[in-house]
This record gives sequence, C-alpha cells and structure tokens, in this order.
Amino acid sequence: MLLSLLKKRRSIRKFQPVPVAVEKVDLLVEAMLRSPSSRGYNPWDFVVVNDPSLLAQLARVKEHGSALLEEAPLAIAVCANPEISDVWIEDCSIASLIIHLAAESLGLGSCWVQIRERRYSKELSSSDYVCKALQLPEGFQVEAIVGIGYPAEKKPPHPRESLLYDRVSCNRYGTRWTMADPSRRESFLESVALAMKDYFGADDRRIEHAHRVAGYARELLAAIDADETETLVAAYLHDIGIPEAERKYGSCSGRSQEQEGPPVARALLEGLGADERLIEVVCELVGCHHTPAGIDSPEFRILWDADALVNLAEVVAGKSPEQIERILDTSLVTETGYRRARKLFLL
Ligand SMILES: Cc1cc2nc3c(=O)[nH]c(=O)nc-3n(C[C@H](O)[C@H](O)[C@H](O)COP(=O)(O)O)c2cc1C
Repeated sequence: MLLSLLKKRRSIRKFQPVPVAVEKVDLLVEAMLRSPSSRGYNPWDFVVVNDPSLLAQLARVKEHGSALLEEAPLAIAVCANPEISDVWIEDCSIASLIIHLAAESLGLGSCWVQIRERRYSKELSSSDYVCKALQLPEGFQVEAIVGIGYPAEKKPPHPRESLLYDRVSCNRYGTRWTMADPSRRESFLESVALAMKDYFGADDRRIEHAHRVAGYARELLAAIDADETETLVAAYLHDIGIPEAERKYGSCSGRSQEQEGPPVARALLEGLGADERLIEVVCELVGCHHTPAGIDSPEFRILWDADALVNLAEVVAGKSPEQIERILDTSLVTETGYRRARKLFLL
C-alpha cells in the first residue's frame, strides 16, 4: 500500500477551486498525529488553514515556491516548539511526509512549501512571517507548509528507470545494490499460475484465458512502465471470482466477479506467502477489472487491455473493418494495446 502510494505521488501545485471534504481533512489530521517522533516527544504543532485570505497571505511567505498556496483550498503549517526536542526538524519533516502520503491515499494532491531557513525579507524570516500570520506562540518555528487540494494537473509517476539505483550500496559504499534475481519472481509467478489452475480445476477454458491474458500483459509490460509482479499476478487471477459467483448467483456478471474475486485471490496469495502489499494491490485490481474507470494505474490499464485483446477476438468475429475500427477505438486504454489490437484484428 505504502509503496503504491509512493510510486504514484508527485508534487501537485495546481488545485481545483473546491474545498477539501471535511471527512478527508479529519483523516489527514488523524494521520499526521500518528507520525512517529523521537522518544515520542511529539514536538510538533499543526495549523490547518482553510481561510482563503490567510492562504493568500501564506502564499507570499517567500519569493519563490509558495505561490501555489493561493490556489490551494487547504494548507497545513507544520510547526514546532524546539524546546521540546532537539530533533524537532526531523520530527516535523516526517509529519509533513505523512501528510503527503495520507493526501495521496485520499485522492488529494499536495506540495511541500519549505519555510525553515527561508526568508520573507531581509529583516523577516519566513518562519517568523508565518508565526505572525497564524498567531503562533513566541519561540515556535515553522518547518514547512503543505498545500493540499483536489489536483487540477496530472503528472506521470517517475519511471523506475529514473530512480538513482547507483546511489544505493550494499554493505560497503561503492558495492552497488543489485536488484533481486528476476528468476525468483518467475518462480513465484509460476506458483500463482499453478494455484490458479488448481482453483479452476477442470475449467480448461478459464485456465487458458488467464494464461493468454498474462501473455499479452507481458507484451504490454515491455512498453509500459508498471510493476511487473503486480500486473502479472493480477492477470493470472483476474477472473478468479467466477466459480464463487456462479455458485452463489448462478451467473458470473462483471459485478459479481469483482465482488467474489478479491477474497479468493487473497486466500490463494496468502497460501503462497505473498507479501501484504502485493495482495492488497492485486485484490484491488481483481475487484475492479470490469469497471473501466476502476483504478488510475498503469497496472490496471495493462490488465484491462490484455483482457480486451483476448476477449475482442470473439467480439470482432464477422464484423466489417469499419465496425472493428469503432470497437477498437473504444475498447483499449493504452496506445500499445491499441496498436497490438489493430495488428491482431485489422491487418
Ligand atoms: C524539503 C523539501 C522542500 C521543498 N520545498 C518546496 C517549495 O518551497 N516549493 C515547491 O513548490 N516545492 C517544494 N518542494 C517540492 C520539490 O520541488 C519536489 O518534491 C521535487 O521537485 C520533486 O518533484 P515530485 O515531488 O513531483 O517528485 C520541496 C520538497 C522537499 C522534500
């Protein structure tokens, strides 16, 4: 869960002009109060700001990098009484980051505005400017203000290739960290495929379908940056709710598959010793795989298109090229998937 939040999170500086729902603000507040702090001293104090005139005032706290606060419907000033702890800076930084991650998990965008060590003017530090604007007690310091709101800009996640793996050493500086052996992942995927096969039993059609979807998912993964294990496990298990849906309701509508699939996927993956994060992500994918607006993630889009590439064979059978064009236009959600579908069904 945490990793998938981190994978998506980007700094958002443009916000929709709507207030953040109070329930979400409550959850943000609870999350930040759960921040760990050195020796549990909790030296921080937070000011939740939603008054537009105060936000406009805070937007002028320094020359660069704070204007976003004028547009943000919400900001949280992360402050501290430095007398409580000598590591208040670390504690406040952690709390600021927790706010970012909680915001991301609530579908909100956020951006850190650095206050400590910044200046409003030659005479006044940014921290003192905020203390004055928010009427903080004498001696308080301000680490950062986190601007928050519903995003009005979309930013792609940082691709894995851009991560600075050369900054990670193993045991001693300079001995580069190397990624775990990919063959370990392959043997795990093989056990997922076997568990899926066992679960479907004599239903060869479903087993073959899952393998074909996983095959297309692999092709798409070569061109689209996404987590390979999450995508492929979801590809093998996406229809795993069908037997239970048929048993309970006598049919396997998309909705009932989405409902019945996640608990079965969870049980299978727990049986294979999969980690909780992977289980959560896969269950989310299985639980949305018939809902076009399911999840905004590359793993979901690949699963969607891989499933479509298999299913479309039946849909386009006997149709004219013009009709097929129209079907493909509305069925695929990735450019790579669309190009693959054209090759399969139109050339
Ligand atoms: C300690 C810290 C201070 C930052 N200060 C500001 C700031 O004052 N204004 C701003 O717009 N962004 C600020 N940022 C956001 C960074 O510019 C941003 O995280 C970085 O460019 C990477 O982009 P990303 O968050 O989209 O991955 C700050 C981030 C950190 C961690």
